[in-house]
Amino acid sequence: MREDLEIDGGRLSRRLDELARLGALPGGGVCRLALTDEDKAGRDQVVRWMRELGLAVTIDGIGNAVGVREGLTEGPPVMIGSHIDTVRTGGPYDGNLGVMAGLEVVATLNDARVVTRRPLAVAFFTNEEGSRFQPDMMGSLVYVGALPLERALATVGIDGTTVRENLARIGYAGTALVARPGEVHAYVELHVEQGPVLEAEGFTIGAVEGVQGISWTELTLAGQSNHAGTTPMRLRHDAGYVAAEIATFARRLARELGGDQVATVGFLTLSPNLVNVVANRAVMTVDLRNTDEQRLQEAERRLFAFVEEAAATEGVGVARRSLARFQPVAFAPELVARVEGIAKELRLPVRRLPSGAGHDAQILASVCPACMIFVPSARGVSHNVEEFTSPADIASGATVLLRLVLELAR
Ligand code: GLV
Ligand code: MN
Ligand code: MN
Repeated sequence: MREDLEIDGGRLSRRLDELARLGALPGGGVCRLALTDEDKAGRDQVVRWMRELGLAVTIDGIGNAVGVREGLTEGPPVMIGSHIDTVRTGGPYDGNLGVMAGLEVVATLNDARVVTRRPLAVAFFTNEEGSRFQPDMMGSLVYVGALPLERALATVGIDGTTVRENLARIGYAGTALVARPGEVHAYVELHVEQGPVLEAEGFTIGAVEGVQGISWTELTLAGQSNHAGTTPMRLRHDAGYVAAEIATFARRLARELGGDQVATVGFLTLSPNLVNVVANRAVMTVDLRNTDEQRLQEAERRLFAFVEEAAATEGVGVARRSLARFQPVAFAPELVARVEGIAKELRLPVRRLPSGAGHDAQILASVCPACMIFVPSARGVSHNVEEFTSPADIASGATVLLRLVLELAR
């Protein structure tokens, strides 16, 4: 192995900055929601970079892009992947770092004229965020065969349009087959932590042990609109009131269950949404997460029981739809140990930790050994335009990534 190879941190940061200009928000941050024109601009740029670096790029039926660098032998590649879509108020690092670091690994190997034994692949997966179309991790789910392509294509997003029509519109309804198990030798993803632990405790590298379970539910509450001034409180069927009760309960539930349990109501719309009209309809989402599957199931049971009771008490109908459900995932122990070991060899402060966010790596883990490398997020802020990770930490993470990939592809 070439121990002397060094990534170019400046080049990596410049690519990240350049990508962040596509879909840049006035005042800072990035909006490249999946399959929008801004996402297309980001995709076009990254595919151009892949080709400039000599990668053979294929686009599959769900729009995942995979760029392959040949090795000395044929066979399944070591894959470096993540996503380049963002939430509506995103930063430049979430997902993008993993893909740009993959390009930096390839550029470093190209400059040094190093050919690995196994092929390498750099991939970005469609709609990891799940903000516009649910479930999240859609592209990687299709890639591993856990979500049928047809079902993914038929998904209707928050603006009423389908994945299929948007993929066609932006020119990313590709023809490559989605992969089958055995087509990836190992998967590695470098990502920002998106939480406060590494920075607060003074660590540069996180060796990610796994990802917590995720449960997304959409609730539609159907009441009766009526006059806000004339309708006595006892005669109301107020969908807005029940939605507020559910949001409050979710917060209380997380506090009561304690441990790792978190609960978020991030989406809520009321109809007709007017000052003097009782709401006849509320649509809301509840995001529950826990590292422990049993406790996550308990949270779901208690939430759903409360929803039924609160709706019945107010005389409001309720329809429940699961938007996403993932059990906790453990990454390959030998890879987690190698991330830790490489960081120690490089004298980078490292600790093990679980991931609070969902990642494509957890989906790839069902078909090959997979792992993640985290670098600190300033103040633990992410899914926020102020997301920031220092260039030095980015370079450290990419260095660990390069070493690990060289070991895996040896
Ligand atoms: C994806 O970013 C998630 O919601 O965890
Ligand atoms: Mn991400
Ligand atoms: Mn994200």
